[in-house]
Amino acid sequence: MGNQLFATKSVDKLMSDSGHGSGLKRSLGPADLIMLGIGAIIGAGLFVRTAAAAAQNAGPSVTLGFVVAAIGCAFAGLCYAEFASMIPIAGSAYTYAYATMGELVAWIIGWDLVLEYAVGAATVGIAWSEYLNKLLEYLGWHIPYQWCHSPFESHKLADGTVAHGLMNVPALFIIIALTLLLIRGTKESALVNGLIVITKVSIVVLFIILGWGFINPANHAVYIPADSTFTDSQGVAHHYGGFVGILGAAGTVFFAFIGFDAVSTAAQESKNPKRDMPIGILGSLVICTVLYILFAHVLTGVASVEDFRTQGREASVAYAIQTYMKGYDWLAKFVTVAILAGFSSVILVMLMGQSRVFYSMSVDGLVPKLFSEVHPKYQTPYKSNLVFLVFVGAFAAFAPADIVGDMTSIGTLFAFIVVCAGIWVLRVRAPHLKREFKAPLVPFVPIAGIIVCAAMIYGLEWLNWLRLAGWLLIGLLIYFGYGIRNSKLAKAG
Ligand code: ALA
Repeated sequence: MGNQLFATKSVDKLMSDSGHGSGLKRSLGPADLIMLGIGAIIGAGLFVRTAAAAAQNAGPSVTLGFVVAAIGCAFAGLCYAEFASMIPIAGSAYTYAYATMGELVAWIIGWDLVLEYAVGAATVGIAWSEYLNKLLEYLGWHIPYQWCHSPFESHKLADGTVAHGLMNVPALFIIIALTLLLIRGTKESALVNGLIVITKVSIVVLFIILGWGFINPANHAVYIPADSTFTDSQGVAHHYGGFVGILGAAGTVFFAFIGFDAVSTAAQESKNPKRDMPIGILGSLVICTVLYILFAHVLTGVASVEDFRTQGREASVAYAIQTYMKGYDWLAKFVTVAILAGFSSVILVMLMGQSRVFYSMSVDGLVPKLFSEVHPKYQTPYKSNLVFLVFVGAFAAFAPADIVGDMTSIGTLFAFIVVCAGIWVLRVRAPHLKREFKAPLVPFVPIAGIIVCAAMIYGLEWLNWLRLAGWLLIGLLIYFGYGIRNSKLAKAG
């Protein structure tokens, strides 16, 4: 058994197995892959968390928080790019771990990725529900509180009564709709994703260009605030300002970068993965980093930190436009629609990534066969999509946003660390393996990636470490109950 836990699957074997019975269709080119990346990246992190990080952690220097988070992601992104061009298989970090650190670590990572993709999709589904309500407000309607919040949330209404959430119906609705689209086909999903990406990038660029003229220099007068403490409306104290404030902001906005790695799960649907995977992963990361820094600079220049602390946190962009950019009310409405569309593409790519990771695990026998059965006509893993519809739908409908958001971040950071370590291990174990794309300066880049990601995990409080540990424990029970007995590698060996 000890041998099996640490048995690795050779890159050749991974490649040949993935070809057997693989019905996934190779339909995506480099532009599709960059679009897929941007589709997954720009979402709730930028439109919701930028203002939160400015208010709680760093003021205008939230831009530097974006730089720190981007550096961590760039190190991990280089490692992902090397792996994805070398082992272009749908399983992403799971597959890379199987090739380098053995079956047990591979299982742990495959299970951990459920936090990133499935729980991440639920998180953005909940944000989608909030923005739908904002849009309805413009039309004079709103969804009753209990039908757009989880049972764990409550809110004091204007008349003094307290409303309790029951079920987040819009969040559930968007998860169902996008699952059906995914089942319909990857190319179709990529087309819809492409349209949405053009819309959301346009809105970000438009806000940067138009908002630049409305930057109030007084808001940027103290770019890096002095160290102090800020207590939010829930009574939680945050370190505000200085270097620690910038690190705190990096942890908060890290969520905004999650998604570039999802490109690697489309490896089996890419026409030329060896060349195009690095282009898709690194290209989408670079484009988003530049947009994020400019966007944060303008947002914190147009509205003040005090605004974000008091009234304009959630719909911060719409708030900043309505309050300070006179004559641009139409833009505020357009922003809300574009954000809704933008969240949809994030959810779409995450749901797709989730089913592709379990597809690979199923091909390896570690999860049941139904996860790799593809639809006879649409050639998509539809049964997997339906199982995850139940799981993601339950989280979207019944879980509070902040908890699932932090679980997504910690799960993703953990996967990034394993991928960085894997690149280093494989360079030592198999130095002559053909690498179409090589991460530079190994082992410096993977070690730096591990350190920056570990620092961000440290920044997420201990309750999240416990949640991650609990989730991994459940995964281990399933592995020892099912995976270890059905592993194809073990059976073959
Ligand atoms: N990066 C994605 C978002 O911000 C997960 O919504």
